Amino acid sequence: MDYARFSYFLRRRFENDHEFNLNTIGGNLSKEISYQTLAKSIRALLGDERDFLANAANVAAVLYQELPEVNWAGFYLLKGQDLVLGPFQGMPACTRIGPGRGVCGAAAQKQETLVVENVKEFPGHIACDSVSKSEIVIPMVRSGRLIGILDLDSPIVARFDDDDRAGLEEVVRLLLETSDDDN
Ligand code: SME
Repeated sequence: MDYARFSYFLRRRFENDHEFNLNTIGGNLSKEISYQTLAKSIRALLGDERDFLANAANVAAVLYQELPEVNWAGFYLLKGQDLVLGPFQGMPACTRIGPGRGVCGAAAQKQETLVVENVKEFPGHIACDSVSKSEIVIPMVRSGRLIGILDLDSPIVARFDDDDRAGLEEVVRLLLETSDDDN
């Protein structure tokens, strides 16, 4: 991303600041609109860049900065059988997750988004940060092939709902559409 594009992103962020903070607006419709605004800004931020790792790094940073009550946001990428730590923001995390392990492995295996209201009640949950209370994991699937997952953790129970699921699935679609899978 060149400097002009970056300053455009920051300007948009400033103009839409009230829309970005999903805490400041009550109600599902507003949250949906906030995710639409977030998706537009991510599209603007990624621009013409096609490098998957660079784009994933910026997506992790945007999600971590903009979504309230999120203490970890990042990617695990499929390498062989394992999910291996990719670009993220938050506390250092476990580097390798075996097939079917934890929330990440389960979502990857099922190839469907998992929303966990209380991680303590999820059998096999991998606690990277004891602060985390709830979690959402969105698989990244390109042409039927799993390439990794997007994972977000929150320090509050039941932080993620269907609006977050829809909004974050759209963010993943956007990342896959705008980036080449060459990692
Ligand atoms: N909690 C995840 C592991 C990854 S961290 O949350 C960053 C899991 O159970 O798969």
